Amino acid sequence: MAQKNKRAELQADSEAKAAGTAQGGGFQEEAAVETVGKASASEARAAGAEQGGEFQEAASVETAEKASASRSASGVQAAGGGFLTVRAIDTPCIVIRSDTVDANIAAMAAAAARRGVQLRPHVKTHKLPELAHRQLAAGACGITAAKLSEAEVMADHGIRDIFIAYPVIGAAKAERAARLARRCRLVVGVDSAVGAQQLSAAAEAADITLEVRLEIESGLQRTGVLPERALPLAEQIMRMPGLRLTGIFTYRGALLGGAPTLELRAAGLEEGRLMAGVAEALRREGVPIQDVSVGSTPTAIYAAEVPGVTEIRPGTYVFQDRMQAAFGVCRQEECAAEVWATVISRPAPDRIVIDGGSKTFATDVQPNKAPLHLEGFGRIIGLPHAVFERMNEEHGVILIAPEDTCEPGDVLRIVPNHICSTMNLHNSVYINGREGLRQVEVAARGCIQ
Ligand SMILES: Cc1ncc(COP(=O)(O)O)c(C=O)c1O
Repeated sequence: MAQKNKRAELQADSEAKAAGTAQGGGFQEEAAVETVGKASASEARAAGAEQGGEFQEAASVETAEKASASRSASGVQAAGGGFLTVRAIDTPCIVIRSDTVDANIAAMAAAAARRGVQLRPHVKTHKLPELAHRQLAAGACGITAAKLSEAEVMADHGIRDIFIAYPVIGAAKAERAARLARRCRLVVGVDSAVGAQQLSAAAEAADITLEVRLEIESGLQRTGVLPERALPLAEQIMRMPGLRLTGIFTYRGALLGGAPTLELRAAGLEEGRLMAGVAEALRREGVPIQDVSVGSTPTAIYAAEVPGVTEIRPGTYVFQDRMQAAFGVCRQEECAAEVWATVISRPAPDRIVIDGGSKTFATDVQPNKAPLHLEGFGRIIGLPHAVFERMNEEHGVILIAPEDTCEPGDVLRIVPNHICSTMNLHNSVYINGREGLRQVEVAARGCIQ
């Protein structure tokens, strides 16, 4: 195990250096330095989990009383009924380092504040009301959700300012949106006259005014109207009763000139300028655009530098993941969420199998795709040359070096390629904080409607 820890540190070190030279970006500077020491200390403890080391001791002294106090304070239902010891963790599962999450939250909040924009994190990454509350406490103006059901869960847990950055289509959904708008400030995305009309009818029937933002297609070729089509639709929406058009938004991730890129600063600036330009053009024609909402984890802080951008909506930054580390957005140590999995077989000297496959790890970020060309489905801490090559539902097949010491029963810690979609596969996660280890329900998982 000592050998594994040493390898993990060396790998993290060299990868962090590589990340630093690739980007040298603002966020990395702000976020990274402070957390490295803490993260590697807790990594070392966690890696000793199966031996029941210091980590277990720290976790087990906590009382059930404290656990329920923290549950009621955060509004989170702990599935385990009190603090747990590491031995109680059953694999495969997600384990989250609480202090790393807090550092990530604080770094993005500071970056947004310095650039004078509002931060409205997307909760699709964590799906945990507790973490949404932490983001708000650190200065976020509200949250972003994709689906109404996600937003409803967050409202049930006391979140009072929600933007659904997704076109809400269908009379039934429009009625639900109008009902939700009675419980919180709700802003809804639109990109069609049909969708806007349905929302208008539902808002009128509920006797409310619903705030909407027009989605602009800025290169991802997903939802949104092309910039040149924004004015006629905006004018139509402005004439619809029950609606108030207050802003525009876009999402495109790391794109530059229409193609995936590693040049994040240029990508963010291009995104910000495009959206600030659309907002100006609309205002000139009498459309009172207040909010210009942009940004993904890789581009948000750069887009935020553009005058006219008012809000950023990163999501992944709360945990970071292997994809973001490869972008150079964060250091490996800043990846706060890991999948822990047990080696169930070593059928050949160069191959191990773990107890998690496609029911445990998301497969949407595939290996060997541009621009990142990730090798395998996750980074295995302590086995720098291992390649997480393939999965069936309940099997993960990892290629290792014959000299690697890794046997059935060993618990591996794996940083998945994409944490958002991985979180969605888990009913609960373990949060490892100074106060101990808690099992927390992923309240907004599976919210697809
Ligand atoms: C509309 C929208 N906004 C914000 C985000 C957050 O992006 P990221 O997870 O890269 O931070 C996403 C992610 O898919 C999104 O679809």
